[in-house]
Amino acid sequence: MKRDILSVTDMSSDFEDIIDLSIRMKKQRYTAFPEMQNRMLGMIFEKPSTRTRISLETAMEQMGGHAIYLNPNDMQIGRGETIEDTGRVLSGFLDVISYRAFRHESVASLAKSSRIPVINALDDREHPVQMLADFMTIKEIFGKINGLKVTYVGDGNNVANSLALSCAVSGSDFTIGCPAGHEPDSRIWQKALEIGKETKSRLEIQNDPVKAVENANVVYTDVWVSMGEEKEREAKEKIFSRYQVNESIMEHADKDHVFLHCLPAHRGLEVSAGVIDGIHSAVFQEAENRLHTSKALIFTLLS
Ligand code: CP
Ligand code: NVA
Repeated sequence: MKRDILSVTDMSSDFEDIIDLSIRMKKQRYTAFPEMQNRMLGMIFEKPSTRTRISLETAMEQMGGHAIYLNPNDMQIGRGETIEDTGRVLSGFLDVISYRAFRHESVASLAKSSRIPVINALDDREHPVQMLADFMTIKEIFGKINGLKVTYVGDGNNVANSLALSCAVSGSDFTIGCPAGHEPDSRIWQKALEIGKETKSRLEIQNDPVKAVENANVVYTDVWVSMGEEKEREAKEKIFSRYQVNESIMEHADKDHVFLHCLPAHRGLEVSAGVIDGIHSAVFQEAENRLHTSKALIFTLLS
């Protein structure tokens, strides 16, 4: 049976196992694996990417496989060939596909029509592969992924949705500090609450960013304007100005807190330069961990 990773919930049963494998992979960076020889990853990107694209491609090559970058505009998909036919055809060439899409439905259609695993490399609903790197970084720093308070300040977007689910799966508490009307997707929030009941993870929505950050072990933020939302920039920058993660908000976090950001970051908007470049920031460790977690995830799916 092939296994797709469209949501964090597709890793509920082995989320921490993949993180532990990533930590081992980090120690053997240039090791190739016989299982990966001649295995091909196809990477379809409808939107730009630095970390996801380059970490996946490097991961595949270092493990002994290969990766092909696929721009939809250079494929027949850009001229109207259906996603379903594309999935059927690519299944005959490749071993695994990663897909960054504007619409979650596109990723789901590709997964449904493909005979090989499909990895969601970010869509409008979730960013599951980012979460592996985030929680790997949390484990490296705190030695565990449960029993912590993780606060996300900002837009209830794809990253916030996946972070809520990841906290629920891991057994950590999650608080989002966001303006009314910018909460996470309500279906995903319900799902996170259900999972949290089992794992004893408490989830909370808070409109006051200072209260949200109180005693947090991890403070996370992401851009206010996600890819594809450029028209909303002016309005969103006004609505979110009170939600900047800066030194005065961070005074309320636990004294040993860690700052995370999936990147790319905008200093002076969602985060101050003092916070992202300060001593509590682990954002570049987090970014590097995209490589090790990409390896562990692909290895898990293909071996
Ligand atoms: N964090 C992240 O996914 O970055 P990219 O958009 O550069 O891939
Ligand atoms: N929320 C951001 C994440 C970028 C990695 C976006 O979708 O653009």
